[in-house]
Amino acid sequence: MKITVLCLFPEIIQHYCSVSIPKRIIEENGVELVLINIRSFAEGTHFRCDEKPFGGGAGMLMQVEPIARALESLEEISKPLLVPSPDGRRFLQSDAEYYAKRNSILLLAGHYEGIDARIKDLYSCDVVSLGDYVLSSGELACLNIIDSILRLQENGINKESLVEESFTEGLLEHDQYTRPSVVRNLAVPDVLLSGHHKNIEKWKEKNRELKTKLFRPDIAR
Ligand code: ADE
Repeated sequence: MKITVLCLFPEIIQHYCSVSIPKRIIEENGVELVLINIRSFAEGTHFRCDEKPFGGGAGMLMQVEPIARALESLEEISKPLLVPSPDGRRFLQSDAEYYAKRNSILLLAGHYEGIDARIKDLYSCDVVSLGDYVLSSGELACLNIIDSILRLQENGINKESLVEESFTEGLLEHDQYTRPSVVRNLAVPDVLLSGHHKNIEKWKEKNRELKTKLFRPDIAR
């Protein structure tokens, strides 16, 4: 898989992808990570990429031209262009699964107050939000998406973890415990120590349902 990211601070993405789990997944799956600095496509003495919004408003917006030139420098523009932004549709685990199966994905990291809306007129964009909160770095948003896609690669996270984790079958993951079985007067639920696999599975299922109803009634069945 080839992952191309257009951004202003490639070092943020480079660093995260060069340590620990992402590093291993990238190496073992032959993932090609291409980081393009949009500023290299800006002009003028200051290589400016941002300007004030027309009609007023706080902050600065990323301009069309440097982004368009960066995109046009690519051999191929994979569609759609994934653009993380708080005003997009919600990015879900099913989207991570969809993008994880593709040969190449292309992301654009916004910065400042956002991106000139005409980028959406020029390119077919999938604008996705990670949740109802605002990050200051589009690179950080891109990293969330990249990480969710990397861990689903063939040699990513072990298959068993993927089966039990949150959002599989539309439920949150059940609570988990490790040694010691009693800590600070708190004991692990007996059933998990019983060795009775059927009862353990029943407990896990019930716990997942309860947690989903309590914390995510919007997705509970
Ligand atoms: N960029 C800034 N905030 C974001 C969010 N909540 N989701 C996706 N991209 C973002």
